[in-house]
Amino acid sequence: MVVARSQSATLASVTDGIFDSSVAPYYDETSRDMFEPGVLGPTVETLAELANGGRALEFAVGTGRVAIPLSEHGVSVAGIELSQAMVDEMNSKPGSERVPVVIGDMATVRVDGEFGLVYLVYNTISNLLTQDEQVACFCNASEHLAPGGRFVIEVGVPRLRQLPVGETMLAFDVADGHFGVDEYDVVNQRLISHHAWVDAGGGRALDSTHRYAWPAEYDLMARIAGLSLVNRWADWHRAPFTAESTSHVSVWQKTAN
Ligand SMILES: C[S@@+](CC[C@H](N)C(=O)[O-])C[C@H]1O[C@@H](n2cnc3c(N)ncnc32)[C@H](O)[C@@H]1O
Repeated sequence: MVVARSQSATLASVTDGIFDSSVAPYYDETSRDMFEPGVLGPTVETLAELANGGRALEFAVGTGRVAIPLSEHGVSVAGIELSQAMVDEMNSKPGSERVPVVIGDMATVRVDGEFGLVYLVYNTISNLLTQDEQVACFCNASEHLAPGGRFVIEVGVPRLRQLPVGETMLAFDVADGHFGVDEYDVVNQRLISHHAWVDAGGGRALDSTHRYAWPAEYDLMARIAGLSLVNRWADWHRAPFTAESTSHVSVWQKTAN
């Protein structure tokens, strides 16, 4: 079996470009769970409601997994994305012509106009590897919002309570030919997600590096950016966030002037 290693990363060698042309064509297939109607349906419904009739801007729009169905739902959607290869995949899909995308860094790039909603889903805030970049991202979201507009992120809760003292590795998935292990670096608040996909035709592997944070740290970033927490749910079905929640959908609102 040939395992194509898309990128090798260690905690000491953080690199970007993991969503380049070697990965982008496989993104939808390897993320197929996230395209399931049971996942995407409530995501789109909730975002459409939060847009409240205004325009929406997706940070890190990727291959348009959320942006295209949200625009089909009647919301005017634009995107920011770092990877041209991911946008090329998006542009091969029907409906992409309704979603204009600016290539650039979501922490710094500006899109013209004001938005009722900025959203950043599927753990992607954690692709920004420093606190400064994450704060800049919150500030950039806030600068795109009209007064009363909302910024939404969807991100996992760090699984540190499950990490035994002295250990660094936690398996997070063994299903449907996918094997996932998170490698924690608690000193630097980083983790590497090691993925392998195996099927009869061979295999692929990918390592992605993330900066994790507790919900409280995101709330402080939001406050720095002039945003206040209005909702924190455990998922897109808006289940209550509890001590056992493994991820959260958090909604902050820009103070109305
Ligand atoms: C996990 S994918 C999510 C894509 C899409 N939002 C979705 O839910 O399917 C992460 C995406 O974030 C993009 N990305 C990572 N860092 C970024 C940055 N600083 N600015 C803009 N996009 C970024 C990657 O290129 C990739 O397309």
